[in-house]
Amino acid sequence: MAVTVGTGKFLSFVRPQSPTLARLVRYECPGSPPTLQSHRNRTTLMTTESPAAGTTEWQADYVHAHLDEQAAYLATVSASTLMQHVAENTHVLLNLKPGQSVLEVGCGNGMFLPGLAEKVFPAGRVVGVDHADAFVTEARKNAAACRHGTIISIESGDAYKLPFGNGTFDAAHCERVLMHLDDPTAAVREMARVVRAGGVVVAAEPDWPGMQFDHPDPEAFQLVYLRALRLFRQPDLGLTLFRRFSEAGLIDLKFLPATAIFTDFATIRMYGLKLEPAVEALIAEKRLPFETLRAVIPALEQASAGGTYYSTAIMHVVAGTVPR
Ligand SMILES: C[S@@+](CC[C@H](N)C(=O)[O-])C[C@H]1O[C@@H](n2cnc3c(N)ncnc32)[C@H](O)[C@@H]1O
Repeated sequence: MAVTVGTGKFLSFVRPQSPTLARLVRYECPGSPPTLQSHRNRTTLMTTESPAAGTTEWQADYVHAHLDEQAAYLATVSASTLMQHVAENTHVLLNLKPGQSVLEVGCGNGMFLPGLAEKVFPAGRVVGVDHADAFVTEARKNAAACRHGTIISIESGDAYKLPFGNGTFDAAHCERVLMHLDDPTAAVREMARVVRAGGVVVAAEPDWPGMQFDHPDPEAFQLVYLRALRLFRQPDLGLTLFRRFSEAGLIDLKFLPATAIFTDFATIRMYGLKLEPAVEALIAEKRLPFETLRAVIPALEQASAGGTYYSTAIMHVVAGTVPR
């Protein structure tokens, strides 16, 4: 099976030989080999159904009020097959060495920090930053309980205004943070500022509109799906990462996407997709006949129960170097 690996300068199709490349294309559940489709009708659908501002569920006040729920969500997602694959690709691009310092922006409850500490232990250091103090406390607790917790520290801070001087770190990373920001490029620029010349910045983000679903009524499904994506502030952030890294002044851009096939609708729900409010909104607006809209979700549930549910996803993982 051919997989894609590339840099800013070239793109090549290679046969997986190294263990990392062999795992580039993964299955969230067992199934037949994945084929990545083009973003069917993406432009048309995005312009007619463009997402709105997004929810507040990763803002500090919300996290404070729903800490257990949000922390459980992050733990479940980070343990999923796709995110484990994203983590492996992220580590390939970060290429951390023992003794180095690395910053994790929007660290949440600190799920990614032990993996970073493994790479830079014993003389290195890992610093997590989050704007939600409830997560800072939780991440400190989790770090204290992990194997190399002595080299991990967590601070309160804003992705737009990191509390560090220029060139403090050898590397900086964030995952599923930029998609929740109004100005993701400014946050990438800020990560680049706190990394030394020659150091690396890596981000991992989904491209929700680029997901593909096999649905018996594709038109009704797309209408519902794109309405549901209004839940996310920047649903297509992953697709824009490469350009944003360039706009932020990073060079030698590289990408190592993680792809997944889902054969179970429950997995997509687990990642946070909520179709029900979208169906209700479209019914209220009489955008399609009531029966048509009401049938969208049951069709996915039936496919899932019958073993024919099939959807594809890409998590974009992009790296750039801070110019000397
Ligand atoms: C979807 S969670 C991802 C958490 C973590 N990166 C992970 O992968 O488990 C988004 C995180 O970004 C944080 N966040 C959102 N906006 C932020 C900002 N402006 N500055 C710092 N952190 C922010 C949230 O508090 C939350 O922890």
